[in-house]
Amino acid sequence: MIKNRNKPRLELFSHRIIDWQQRHGRHGLPWQGTDVYHVWLSEIMLQQTQVATVIPYYHRFVARFPTIAALAADSEDAVLAHWSGLGYYSRARNLHRTAQLIMQRHEGKFPKHFEDILALPGIGRSTAAAISALAFHERCAILDGNVKRVLARYHAIEGYTGEKKIEAQLWQQAEALLPKRDVAVYTQGLMDLGALICTRSKPQCAICPLQADCAAYQNERITQLPTPRPRKVLPEKHSTFLLLLNDSDILLTKRPGSGIWGSLWCPPQVDPKVLSTATDPSTYCLQHFGTETIHSLALSTFTHTFTHFKLHITPILLQVINKPKQTQESGMVWLDVNDALRAAIPTPVRKLLLEIQAGRKSL
Ligand code: ADE
Ligand code: SF4
Repeated sequence: MIKNRNKPRLELFSHRIIDWQQRHGRHGLPWQGTDVYHVWLSEIMLQQTQVATVIPYYHRFVARFPTIAALAADSEDAVLAHWSGLGYYSRARNLHRTAQLIMQRHEGKFPKHFEDILALPGIGRSTAAAISALAFHERCAILDGNVKRVLARYHAIEGYTGEKKIEAQLWQQAEALLPKRDVAVYTQGLMDLGALICTRSKPQCAICPLQADCAAYQNERITQLPTPRPRKVLPEKHSTFLLLLNDSDILLTKRPGSGIWGSLWCPPQVDPKVLSTATDPSTYCLQHFGTETIHSLALSTFTHTFTHFKLHITPILLQVINKPKQTQESGMVWLDVNDALRAAIPTPVRKLLLEIQAGRKSL
């Protein structure tokens, strides 16, 4: 049973958050106090990624694309190259598309109102609200992962927070708690509290401004709340990466525009079943790429986990003596390994290229 809240209500929830943000929240983040372009970019980068990881990417990104106009005018390949390693690449493709859309339909000005922001590609309800609140001081409620955790604990809401019904309850609370003013500070305060105090494990309730009437704290439910995601076994897939090397050049192919690693550059991939039956890797490469292999070596299999499945990757290194011409239009290029490391490549490919570069896998 949840105890009655018999503590006096000290002051409004939102006032405590605002006061706490001003004293103890984060103030030196590079996108704070900037314009809507920088707020938008940071919110997209921060969607699935922690602040510490985002900061260096953010600086490199704004150095290369200082304005919406500059972002719109550059190539998708350049945008993806600057996103390389951050993951969830549809975020970068949508960012680029949105910049172009803003140039075409909004006269280069980022829209000011929640509804118009929500209509942009790749921007959901919470992100639209965060941009509206932080950049335009509009009275909009956010509900990202951190805020879900804070509210689920504060109100002792049971049930997985990704579930529609629970989420609707949390949105209702998020709306009800909004202050009349100082929405930007409040919004930042909620995010900061979730990231710094009300952390997933070992929250620092002793110094939390919500402790006096936090239902999870008062009822000793902190370790049980929020209710974890129901465990699901992820499906497993296998892929062989063919690392064709001609001296220091490697063959890369551009992946289709949608799906995992959309529009990124990867070594050719093949279903291991194809290789385990009739064709060996060298023959396969001769047939598909016209390359003559002099050495081949299978490297250890490793696993990359996506949100919805696990991918077991077996890299095969093939030293080839010729380099059949491939044009970029055909979706294939031979790139020096150093240049490939600066291209739009996913993290496991970066890892393999670094190993090759270090010479540890020399044949
Ligand atoms: N996570 C999402 N948005 C954020 C912000 N503006 N500051 C810190 N962490 C965040
Ligand atoms: Fe989170 Fe503890 Fe604060 Fe409750 S008292 S909101 S559980 S940090």
